[in-house]
Formats: sequence, structure tokens, C-alpha cells
Amino acid sequence: MTQLIKTAEDIEGMRIAGKLAGEVLDYIGPYVKPGVSTGELDRLCHDYIVDVQGAIPAPLGYGGGGGRPPFPKSICTSVNHVICHGIPSDTKILKDGDALNIDVTVIKNGYHGDTSKMYVAGKPSILTERLIRVTQECMYRGIAAVRPGAHLGDIGAVIQKHAEANRYSVVRDFCGHGIGRVFHEEPQVLHYGQAGTGMELKAGMIFTIEPMINAGSYHTKVLPDGWTAVTKDHKLSAQWEHTILVTPTGVEVLTARTEEDLSFLNA
Ligand code: MF3
Ligand code: CO
Ligand code: CO
Repeated sequence: MTQLIKTAEDIEGMRIAGKLAGEVLDYIGPYVKPGVSTGELDRLCHDYIVDVQGAIPAPLGYGGGGGRPPFPKSICTSVNHVICHGIPSDTKILKDGDALNIDVTVIKNGYHGDTSKMYVAGKPSILTERLIRVTQECMYRGIAAVRPGAHLGDIGAVIQKHAEANRYSVVRDFCGHGIGRVFHEEPQVLHYGQAGTGMELKAGMIFTIEPMINAGSYHTKVLPDGWTAVTKDHKLSAQWEHTILVTPTGVEVLTARTEEDLSFLNA
């Protein structure tokens, strides 16, 4: 059993873990360049999390069972048509214009902070830039829908509306999730759906919002490695993720980075 409403002590622990996760994304940015391998980015993040932050990379060894091997690396690196859960590799070398999602989850004092962002190696195409921007807007609109008394479906509805207004599609097969001492817990946070449906939000709930938006259709395929999720049509996919807390008056982004302007929230 996981508790949906966190205690004050849990919330303090989640603030610390969330901040550290965001700091890893800041740290790794300057290394994302043409010529670097995703395996190298994984080693850099692993060492930063363990040696500098005194934290644990949650993906390493996570989620095995039922015929699937445990995740073998410390971060997820999802390049171009990879939607999520890309496995870092020394043979995957970034080329000019590649779009990359880095998804970091750290465990600090037993609490999880989970966040991801898009990077581009070198110079993005106009199309890549637009998908990345609209996907970030989808995440921000989802976050802005969070307040006590709102419903989970309100989040999915605003995300789906914005994605489809831009002629993109919302991935159905992966969703956001409750998070705390457990990496993935209730509730499931869908990135599509209808306003007014689903669980009512209450102050003290903590969950992720992590829309995956595709340039083509939303259909997915998982590669034989058991993890790497790709677009069936091999078109581009983007994702952004934050861990958020429902506050008595609105929302707090636990994984906020210093470069981010979140002043549009709770306004
Ligand atoms: N960080 C991912 C999420 O947002 C989960 C990664 S699980 C892993 O939920 F095993 F692939 F690392
Ligand atoms: Co997540
Ligand atoms: Co994540």
C-alpha cells in the first residue's frame, strides 16, 4: 500500500530528491554534443549522482522480472524516434541535429526525484525545435491544471488538446505516476483524456507529469532488449518530465531547475 497524501516529512524529503534530480540535468547539458556517446553521458551522470550528490541512480537494476531484464544503466537516453527508456550505449554516438531526452531519477534518503528534458546535439532542424517546444508547452499546461479539487483527467485533457492542435499525437502506452519512497506508484497520470474525469486531486499528492508527444502516430513498439520504446512509424518523439506536489493553493514543481521560469504557475 502506498499513501496518496504525503506527510510533511515526506514532502521535505521529496523536495531534496527533486532538486538533486534537476541538478543532474543541468550538470549534463554541456556534455551533450555531436560525437559524444550516450554511454559516456550515462557514466558522467552516474558518477555525479553517486560521488557528488551522495545519491542513488534509481534506474540501475530497476524493473526486471516477467521476462524483462533489469534496466542496465543509470539514466535513460532516448534519441530521435526513441520515445522513452532508451538504454545508454558506447556505440550510440550523437550526430549533429539529434534530439535526445535524458531522464534522471535519483534516490536520496529513500525518496525519489524523477525529471527529464530534451537536448539537441548541435543544430536542430525547425521541425525538431517545434516538437520539443510544443511538448514542453504540453507539460507546462498539464502542470498548470493542477490544484486541489481538479481531476487527473484535466491534466490529460489540456495536454492532448495542445498536442493535437499542433497536429501531433500523444503516446498512450506510457504515463506519469505517483512517486515517493516507491519509484512508480498510484495514481497513473494519463497524458490524454477528458476534463472532470478521474481521481480528484488533493493537497499533499505527489506525481509526475511526463508527456511523450509524437510527430506521427502515437503507436509504440518495444525493442527486443525489453526496454527501448520507439515510434512504430519511426518518426520523431519528444518528452519532458517534472515531479510535482499538489499544494493547498495550487502546485509546486519539485524538480524545477534554476534556468526555468515557472512564474506562470499559481498566477
Ligand atoms: N524515469 C522513468 C519514468 O519517468 C522510468 C525509467 S525506468 C527505467 O518513469 F528502468 F527505465 F529506468
Ligand atoms: Co517518471
Ligand atoms: Co523519468
